[in-house]
Amino acid sequence: MHPLEQLRDDALREIESARDEQALETARVKYLGRSGSVSAWGEQMKTLAKDEKPIVGKLLNEVRNAVTAAIESRAAQFRSQKESVGLAKIDISLPGTPSGYSGYSGYSGYSRTAAGYSGYSRTTESRGSFHPLTQILERSIEIFRRMGFALADGPDIEDEWHCFDALNTPPEHPARNEQDTFYLPDGRLLRTHTSTVQIRTMQSAPPPIRVIAPGAAYRRDELDATHSPQFHQIEGLYVDENVSVADLKGALEFFMRELFGLGTNVQFRPHYFPFTEPSLEVYVKSKALKKGEEWVEVAGSGVVHPAVFEAVNKARGDKAYDPEKWTGYAFGLGMDRLAMILFDIPDIRLFAQNDLRFLKQFA
Ligand code: DAH
Repeated sequence: MHPLEQLRDDALREIESARDEQALETARVKYLGRSGSVSAWGEQMKTLAKDEKPIVGKLLNEVRNAVTAAIESRAAQFRSQKESVGLAKIDISLPGTPSGYSGYSGYSGYSRTAAGYSGYSRTTESRGSFHPLTQILERSIEIFRRMGFALADGPDIEDEWHCFDALNTPPEHPARNEQDTFYLPDGRLLRTHTSTVQIRTMQSAPPPIRVIAPGAAYRRDELDATHSPQFHQIEGLYVDENVSVADLKGALEFFMRELFGLGTNVQFRPHYFPFTEPSLEVYVKSKALKKGEEWVEVAGSGVVHPAVFEAVNKARGDKAYDPEKWTGYAFGLGMDRLAMILFDIPDIRLFAQNDLRFLKQFA
């Protein structure tokens, strides 16, 4: 047996019997370290006869590889032993730590003392919940879906045609004023209402149509307790044969009662919108609400103006919305207003301030 083979066998035996990482490291230094025995053989190569060099060199490489591999595999055994010892200490039957729970809440004092603020537990503290506007939106969509309305949508950045012209709103109308509308440098604008989606929907599909379009709308209003430059609406459009004001009133009454309770009264007052004739403002009054005895305006509505159908026909290049054949109703619900009424929220600015003390009350 070549002395190198003897060295290899000794090394492998020693590595195999190393009891811990410390012992393994000692063995590594002894055989592979700078002045270890394998390295010493490398030095010795220089003194060998020419014909011996390749044979011994090859053997030396094999030995070095075998010893290195043995050390590596023993080290891996130690690592996995350590891991399983560590895991054994974890009691997987214990309850976990709530996510986001840091053991202290800066808000706890506040939510306990402020009247009307719901108390919190560790669980509600750490669990996310839906924004009140999202909640009322989902409830509303669910009610309209039961009435057969499908969902539609359109862009927040619009052109003047979809926002005004197609909706029978002439160039001199005050809503088109730069003081009232956010215009972009290229002449487009932030839609001032979701009624734009009425037009987009009719452009893309022939009647009958029954859609709602929830989304944001924008006006250059001063921010105060009841006005916000960004607010939310649900637009509704129903086009079919023989659709009447009675259908409109029935649908909105049903909606308001589903949302606010059976004791809700709904009132329709004559109004003016360029895109409907007749036009009606919708008011609700409900005993279930804090402001029980007040009529509150919650929507605009009406019977689709024939000029709107004509504008759509022109854009489509057909007569799909023949005003002699089709009639429709439309409405635009103010979602921020509905949420303020339903949840008794005094200030529209609270919706956008992201104050957890406010948001937690709706968790
Ligand atoms: N777009 C109107 C607004 O934002 C609301 C509205 C009124 C929508 C009448 C309609 C409608 O669809 O028919 O003030």
